[in-house]
Amino acid sequence: MKIIRSLTAMTAWSEQLRREGVRIGLVPTMGALHEGHRALIRAARLRCDALVVSIFVNPTQFGPNEDLAKYPRPLSRDRALCEKEGIDVCFEPTVEAMYPSRFQTTVALPAIARRCEGEVRPHHFSGVATVVTKLFGIVRPRIALFGQKDFQQSALVRQLVKDLDLGVEIVVHPTVREADGLARSSRNIYLLPDDRIRAATLYKSLQAGGEAIRRGVTDGATIQSEMAQVLKKESAITIDYLAVCDPATLEPLLSVTRQAVLLGAIRLGSVRLIDNILVSAKQARHKL
Ligand code: PAJ
Repeated sequence: MKIIRSLTAMTAWSEQLRREGVRIGLVPTMGALHEGHRALIRAARLRCDALVVSIFVNPTQFGPNEDLAKYPRPLSRDRALCEKEGIDVCFEPTVEAMYPSRFQTTVALPAIARRCEGEVRPHHFSGVATVVTKLFGIVRPRIALFGQKDFQQSALVRQLVKDLDLGVEIVVHPTVREADGLARSSRNIYLLPDDRIRAATLYKSLQAGGEAIRRGVTDGATIQSEMAQVLKKESAITIDYLAVCDPATLEPLLSVTRQAVLLGAIRLGSVRLIDNILVSAKQARHKL
């Protein structure tokens, strides 16, 4: 496995392989790799000839009061995981190389980025859209994998690639979970033992919403309140948002008649967790 830190070296490696007709895949990450990342890497492996994993804790997607400084950076463990998974290149650019002093351009966001995470973390998606565009420009992959865990992020990336003709196939991989349903996340290690147990309530609340839809409840507000009831049983949990949305636009659904994405974000102590599930309405499933 090659470790590449320079942007020009990364592009040169890719260009050489592209000339030889090699299909390059990219899994962009911020490191602190876990089973969720591993699943993306394995799924990517099956779809390309040469695989690049980027590890870059992107400062522009963190707000001023967020956890950039304390974001975990277990680099040698990450490299070992990449090596074990047979990655071709671990791309580890520096902040200075990605954002030199005269860096000025950012990507204007599509509507899909405004709600949910976009409301609570106003600068987040601008940073994500910009860094993903840069990574695509540097690595020049034919295919890139993202996780459903960050549903809004993957929807944003799809829109970005389509609108700006970036020519990268985007594959979204299902969320990998712990045995109790908690979505794997680099931030889970910061949960205190009691909060770790409570954290699975987020998934339980999404499931309660899903069950309501499967029972035939269509009213968005009712579904949302069924989800909230589950979370309100845990006083240590603060709800950032719970939403019942159209998966294509992320607009809130007043009535669920086809597919819906149920999204939630909570805070437990200093840790913020997000999760989502896709659900089909009872009527829609009968029509299938
Ligand atoms: P990061 O949080 O490291 O996640 C990297 C990729 O792994 C994302 O596509 C994310 O959705 C996926 N992922 C995380 N947890 C997952 C899980 N439990 N199951 C399946 N996939 C999971 O997301 C980012 O980094 C950054 O925003 C990035 C796209 C790299 C841009 O900086």
